[in-house]
Amino acid sequence: MKALLSGKIDDRFSLNLQTTDEPTIEDDEVLIKVIACGINYPDTLIIKDQYQIRPKRPFAPGGEVSGIIVNKGKNVIGWHENDRVIAITSYGGLAEYVSCKADKLVKLPNSISMANGAGFLFTYGTAYHALHDRGRLTPNETVLVLGAAGGVGLAAVELAKAHDAYVIGAVSDDLKKNAVLESGADQCFLYPKNMVELPAKSRSEIFKEQLAGRSPNIIFDIVGGAYSEAAIRSIAWEGRFLIVGFPGGIAKLPLNLPLLKGCECTGVFWGTFFEKSRAKARENHEHLVRLLETGKLKPKISTVLGLENAEEAIERLKRRQVVGKVVVMVSHY
Ligand SMILES: NC(=O)c1ccc[n+]([C@@H]2O[C@H](COP(=O)([O-])OP(=O)(O)OC[C@H]3O[C@@H](n4cnc5c(N)ncnc54)[C@H](OP(=O)(O)O)[C@@H]3O)[C@@H](O)[C@H]2O)c1
Repeated sequence: MKALLSGKIDDRFSLNLQTTDEPTIEDDEVLIKVIACGINYPDTLIIKDQYQIRPKRPFAPGGEVSGIIVNKGKNVIGWHENDRVIAITSYGGLAEYVSCKADKLVKLPNSISMANGAGFLFTYGTAYHALHDRGRLTPNETVLVLGAAGGVGLAAVELAKAHDAYVIGAVSDDLKKNAVLESGADQCFLYPKNMVELPAKSRSEIFKEQLAGRSPNIIFDIVGGAYSEAAIRSIAWEGRFLIVGFPGGIAKLPLNLPLLKGCECTGVFWGTFFEKSRAKARENHEHLVRLLETGKLKPKISTVLGLENAEEAIERLKRRQVVGKVVVMVSHY
């Protein structure tokens, strides 16, 4: 099969389109013919050994796919050949075939395209788990989403709006701002592309000025770095600061801040939640697919590329150039 393999770590990621063996499957796994693969920020990290998971090389990146089941292990029940599925694979998705544990599959209804199926669960699953399971979002609360035009960010905007929150996005350019407003945010403001270059006081003033007295009950932080402390200084009393990601660097917070704000700083790790709480995760994911099927969610896929250009897809994410999602079409359907 064809696969985009990461051989060694260097400045170019060392990704090469190669021919390799199809994966074998365990008794509780299925083999999936990959039709499309969604690109996520962790793909930029895993190929540099900077992610929580470090697969043995060579491996193909690609943590979420849509496709059809072509084979199944003898202990797999409830799934059949030719079923359309979404699979969270952690890696291996930028290849013509990938294996996946059967209990991590979600059925992909015929009415949802393979591209939409591949660019959905990782971001919406994370945002839903963060806002509801960890953040206990209630209607009419104010939610501030940092990095609001990225994959997880736009999903958070849509899901918070769907729960009748007042949603404010924060992004680094006008194109991203427009996308956030189109996805339903009530407000969106710009912050500097490199916040760390400003003095600490000016950073927090940006948030205070832009929020104009509307303190967020939830801050959904997928950016980290110098943005986190500046944002948390504006949080409402008893707010929830959701720690989701760090493309801007791992933030350090003075612990007097959560004390003064009476707020919670809550870690969100969807991958481990998916491993440890499969039944609850399945419930979340089936709910999200129903919202997608009925048109209540409209994921923004801004770029679709072929497998031969998948390295470019990962690089665009790294360069902060993506609005919503990039999806790689791996095979014809
Ligand atoms: N905790 C979990 O369970 C979980 C699950 C999935 C993903 N994540 C994490 O969530 C984050 C977002 O993932 P994603 O797939 O949505 O990525 P994405 O589509 O690339 O979006 C990330 C956003 O962060 C901002 N950003 C990127 N690089 C930055 C930098 N160097 N400094 C400041 N801002 C930067 C950009 O927005 P602006 O340019 O507008 O600032 C970008 O739109 C990643 O860190 C990822 O690892 C966590």
